[in-house]
Amino acid sequence: TLNDQLDFVVCGATGDLSLEKIFPSLFSLYILDMLPRKFTIVGAGRTALTTEDFQNMINKRLGQLRSGKGSWEILTKMSFSEFMEKKEGFFKRVFYYAITNYNVQDGSLVGLDELLKMNSAEGPANRIFHLAIPPSAYVRVAQAIHKSSLSAVQYRHLTASNTFKDGFSRIIVEKPFGRDTPSFVTLMDALSGCFNPEDTFFMDHYAAKEMVENIPIFRFQNIWLEPLWNHKYISSVSITVKESEGIAGRGSYFDDNGVIRDMLQNHLMQILVRTAMEPPQMFCERDIRESRMTTVENIRPLTLDDVVLGQYEGYHNEDESIPSDSITPTYVCAVVFIDNDRWRGVPFILRTGKMLNERKAEVRVQFKKADNFLLGAQRNELVFRIQPDEAIYFKVNNRLPGFDKKVHLAELDLTYKKRYAGTPPEAYSKLIQRTIQGDQFTFTTPDEIKAIWEKFTPLLHQIEREKIKPITYKAKSRGPVEGDQLAKRHGFQHDSEYSWTPQKQ
Ligand code: BG6
Repeated sequence: TLNDQLDFVVCGATGDLSLEKIFPSLFSLYILDMLPRKFTIVGAGRTALTTEDFQNMINKRLGQLRSGKGSWEILTKMSFSEFMEKKEGFFKRVFYYAITNYNVQDGSLVGLDELLKMNSAEGPANRIFHLAIPPSAYVRVAQAIHKSSLSAVQYRHLTASNTFKDGFSRIIVEKPFGRDTPSFVTLMDALSGCFNPEDTFFMDHYAAKEMVENIPIFRFQNIWLEPLWNHKYISSVSITVKESEGIAGRGSYFDDNGVIRDMLQNHLMQILVRTAMEPPQMFCERDIRESRMTTVENIRPLTLDDVVLGQYEGYHNEDESIPSDSITPTYVCAVVFIDNDRWRGVPFILRTGKMLNERKAEVRVQFKKADNFLLGAQRNELVFRIQPDEAIYFKVNNRLPGFDKKVHLAELDLTYKKRYAGTPPEAYSKLIQRTIQGDQFTFTTPDEIKAIWEKFTPLLHQIEREKIKPITYKAKSRGPVEGDQLAKRHGFQHDSEYSWTPQKQ
């Protein structure tokens, strides 16, 4: 693949996702020499821009990322002259295509095809279309790509030797995939009319976060852990993704979807499945996917009794596209059960929300109490810290060194910053690179997505039908106390005395 021409088209190129994640990722891959040698990148969008305008836009954002903190370490570590030099090389291959209409009747993207061919080196070319557009437009755009002869089914490229060779044509779609089970099925039907299943990539970037990818490795490659990983020893598992920002700037997308469709049904479920899945027969893609699928099937459909919904104060004023009477939840705490031998009775407490007191994502596994507890000893807890500051720490009881016979809670701590050089690559970079390679391993399968929707659809429909009102919570707080109370009712112990701080580098 690396010898073939790659055409990478970002649809929705002037939007947030494109500027924040996709272009910085493409640029990072370019710096790392991980893009094919011959490539063309086209930003396509409905805004009327020239290639120069568009390049200025990307350039500005790359400059900001270079001077900012955060996970784009690759941009911050290089020298200024190298940064400038790399940008120059990159921008030679970046173009803008203004889509005046994408009416599916006509081949409205034919011009895009011409632009790509014009900038292609001779020889077979592969194409990837990354849809960074509102989910409601996926079908329309996929069909426009298809009807303009850009997709695999019709697309052939003339090689230098004048023979026809198939290039691949892949599409990346981002969660949420539909709104519920029926709309996902409709989306799948439409996409499969345009792209081959192996060329359709359902992207959930949480699945590629370093620690989320690590959970199955840590579980299945360390023999001491697996015997304890069940209801006999574990009392609860909580999966938390707290965000400290609101939804300013993308109110209409968010208000239409809400936190369950934006975060819980996909990102948190991907974490849950990796934490709870059965060991695969072999550690290979097919078996791992099968294990994930079996676990999803064992999840009990969610009910309103086990859910707390919240909305932060000021949500309506944050973005002008939000109706003043919107009851869209921005916070959810949901207790999920998995009805299989391993997990029977163990609550999985899933929590996520916007505008909370901190930005933090983690999996917290609370073990049961030992029988012969000494004073000072507490239950064990294993924490996978996903972000910020990746770490795994295990809270263990230990003798306090000294003359006194005291036991206290200490930790075995694997802080990434201390143990590994540099910060892990951005999830998006890994996923784009794997799409180029045709590696579906980290992407969600349609069966899995459908099975997860089936667990959420009755709840979502009930919330909508009965117009369930979320509980208002203060901005920058822990969310509604009812969420904490629900977790507590299910045995979760919040230990406010213990506080973990990342070790120094
Ligand atoms: C996106 C959601 O998928 O993930 C956003 O649409 C959310 O609402 C974002 O803010 C969080 O991602 P990260 O990587 O910043 O934790």
